[in-house]
Amino acid sequence: MDDLASLEARSLAAIAAAGDEGALEQARLDALGKKGAVSAALATLGKMAPDERRAAGAAINAVKDRVTEALAARKGELKSAALSARLARETIDVTLPVRPSPAEAGRVHPIAQVTDEIVSIFADMGFSVAEGPDVETDDYNFTKLNFPVGHPAREMQDTFFFAPDAKGERKLLRTHTSPVQVRTMLAKKPPIRVICPGRVYRSDWDETHTPMFHQVEGLVVDSSANLGNLKWTLEEFLKAFFETPKVGLRFRPSFFPFTEPSVEVDVQCRRSGGEIRFGEGDDWLEILGSGMVHPNVLRNCGIDPDVHQGFAFGMGIDRLAMLKYGAPDLRDFFEADVRWLRHFGFRALDVPGGE
Ligand code: DAH
Repeated sequence: MDDLASLEARSLAAIAAAGDEGALEQARLDALGKKGAVSAALATLGKMAPDERRAAGAAINAVKDRVTEALAARKGELKSAALSARLARETIDVTLPVRPSPAEAGRVHPIAQVTDEIVSIFADMGFSVAEGPDVETDDYNFTKLNFPVGHPAREMQDTFFFAPDAKGERKLLRTHTSPVQVRTMLAKKPPIRVICPGRVYRSDWDETHTPMFHQVEGLVVDSSANLGNLKWTLEEFLKAFFETPKVGLRFRPSFFPFTEPSVEVDVQCRRSGGEIRFGEGDDWLEILGSGMVHPNVLRNCGIDPDVHQGFAFGMGIDRLAMLKYGAPDLRDFFEADVRWLRHFGFRALDVPGGE
């Protein structure tokens, strides 16, 4: 019986030590398999006297029952340990920091931001947006705008010309957004009230000039548009754009071939330190060109100057961006330097003109 006790102890120890299902199965075979220890013990019964056999048989069967029970218990333990290990392996740590979405990480370029601001202010005043191509004809960029052929004003604009085509026509990169006026007047009848933002090109390069820059053109044509309307429109625009309750404007006589009279507009400001304030101070800053649309331009675009009249203005978007947001060198705007953009750029979901 000593043997039986140690057999039981060995089997139970092997079962308790089994670390996985394979080891447990081996322990089962060692104890209860055909060639296992318990089967071997049972095989000894045949040679026993009947009394001895009854007692031994009962003892061996009791061991068999306890070993079977231990096997089932251990199997259950191993199963739940395997489940816990799997759960631990497959957990997601929802407390890990989430990476910012592209919409959060990216920035809107100040030119795009300022263009949106300008468009939204003029949209509130009933203007719609018109666009034209960057590659323009000489006719739309100059001739229809009343630049006489060979006039020095053409040279003043430092034009980038393309090589002449088969018909001898020389296309160019538009030097201003004014050809969009021409395209608009040729395409629709007055009343016209449009703004035309876009890229323009001139051969120029220093702190405040780049070969590509941005302008916005304004054009109003109806039966009564006048300089008073122009002044009001510009004042309202500048107040909204610079977010000041008042602006001081100064109109200086000037010359553009496409306007008569032509005026250059200065805005009153005070510079202190790196800051600039509008609506106060003794400084005047030139910000745009404007005037009454020249009768020749109206005529060139199929509009009768005896019936309709108009005013127009053109200003540099980049310059407005520099003034409003304080970027000192225009060339940086187009360097595509992500550190600059992170500093001067805007978040995608900012509202134009909003806080
Ligand atoms: N086109 C002019 C320029 O590029 C700006 C300008 C001046 C536009 C007067 C106008 C205007 O519409 O009336 O310098």
